Amino acid sequence: MNEKVHVVNHPLLSHKLTILRDKDTSTKDFREIVSEIGMLLTYEATRDLPLTTKEIETPICKMEAPTLKGKKFAVVPILRAGLGLVDGVLRMVPSARVGHLGMYRNEETMEPVQYFCKMPRDVAERDVLIVDPMLATGGSANAAIDIIKGYGCKNIKLMVLVAAPKGIEVVTAKHPDVDIYCGAVDQGLNENSYIVPGLGDAGDRIFGTK
Ligand code: PRP
Ligand code: URA
Repeated sequence: MNEKVHVVNHPLLSHKLTILRDKDTSTKDFREIVSEIGMLLTYEATRDLPLTTKEIETPICKMEAPTLKGKKFAVVPILRAGLGLVDGVLRMVPSARVGHLGMYRNEETMEPVQYFCKMPRDVAERDVLIVDPMLATGGSANAAIDIIKGYGCKNIKLMVLVAAPKGIEVVTAKHPDVDIYCGAVDQGLNENSYIVPGLGDAGDRIFGTK
């Protein structure tokens, strides 16, 4: 596997992903668990955040203690389904700014169609974490990365719950500088470009629209 692809193997994550995959999981549980997995994936995706130290005093003595260097960070969900992951990221990195990128797949061509974009004013200076539960054909992720690079962003990561080998191949080929964090790499895509076994339509399951 490409060194830019990080499959996060953790028993808690695997267990929660199984609940998501189950077609009988309720909308409420699905939404809550997407958020929880968002937290667990963020833990890995932020592993390289730089630290500095500051002097504090414990009840016992003074010490130079590690603290985040305060690097500027933004999370960018691909609407709609990416919204389900934002809360988990913000619980881990409360100071992050949020940019929104509206995009849906045209159901015939599978090409992404952009309908909204609102980024933080200073997004070019920020490390950006693009979030979306599903990386299927890779069309939406590639378009999102193109747009974020268009703002001048240099350090971009992509975080997804489930990826298809095709999506990984397509994104790593076009954007070899982007690290991809995912909870699982599945077998492939079906004739409708849904991930197999996958978890179905993530947006519909998060928002209860089916
Ligand atoms: C889904 C998913 C991704 C995209 C992945 O969004 O959330 O954005 O499809 O597919 P791709 O890798 O083949 O581009 P969808 O178009 O269903 O929109 P939604 O989030 O509004 O439901
Ligand atoms: N979008 C989804 O929501 N699910 C898939 O399996 C593929 C794209």
